[in-house]
Amino acid sequence: MKLAALVGSIRKDSYNLKLARYIQNRYQHLFQLDVLNIRDLSFYDQDIESVPPQPVIDFKAKVAAADAVLWITPEYNSTIPGVMANAIDWLSRVDRVMIGKPSWIVGSSIGLLGSVKAQGHLRDILFSSGISSPLLPGNEVYIGLVHVRSLKKFKPDVSIEVKESAIKRAHDFKGNIPGIVELSAGINVTNEIEHMHVFTLGIRVTFENQQACREYIQHPLHQGLLQSIGPFVEGIVVMDYPFA
Ligand SMILES: Cc1cc2nc3c(=O)[nH]c(=O)nc-3n(C[C@H](O)[C@H](O)[C@H](O)COP(=O)(O)O)c2cc1C
Repeated sequence: MKLAALVGSIRKDSYNLKLARYIQNRYQHLFQLDVLNIRDLSFYDQDIESVPPQPVIDFKAKVAAADAVLWITPEYNSTIPGVMANAIDWLSRVDRVMIGKPSWIVGSSIGLLGSVKAQGHLRDILFSSGISSPLLPGNEVYIGLVHVRSLKKFKPDVSIEVKESAIKRAHDFKGNIPGIVELSAGINVTNEIEHMHVFTLGIRVTFENQQACREYIQHPLHQGLLQSIGPFVEGIVVMDYPFA
């Protein structure tokens, strides 16, 4: 079976592209997954829809030849990214190659809900008359919180001042260490399993790319924080996005 994957992010370190590559490798015994190039598609333009540029012709031919399409979407401003909407506009016109072709949607984003709003919108769009793609009901995959998370367990008698100072130093990473997109740090007050095991200091960092993550690990500010809290900490857990 031949599947075409349409990834709604064109940045080179895209988590959604990694997800596409993971699915491609993991299920190669079941289907051949071709990750389509949407970077070279020009903006959809009704004036040229019957004589589109070559990248559009190639793109539509690949979709036409596929048995089904796997849509892998990030979430931008609570909906699908513009590059994906643009690709859909091309597909929806003239030869309308999506009509009747089955689709499946997955996606990942930084937010807790992992592209749930974008996927909801995409679902509606795929049912529009120019696309009319049947979707498998009830099969929803949302991958959220795509970033590095570390939890630190303080020794029992550590003062609140030491904990507050650690949080402040962690907040200072943003703006001082390059490549950090988003950072949050604080004391865990939930009943999650980590809290029950007193891994109470949480630091969550989202990086522009993997290189930024590697540089962060070595950065003097990060190393300085680790050294300063070292005597007060008795355990560290680091969680990473699982697709390499
Ligand atoms: C313009 C823009 C808008 C975004 N809006 C959202 C959003 O509404 N919800 C969300 O969870 N993440 C949002 N994000 C963060 C994306 O989830 C994050 O950048 C993700 O890594 C994009 O997917 P990619 O790694 O495949 O490029 C936004 C990012 C950008 C650049």
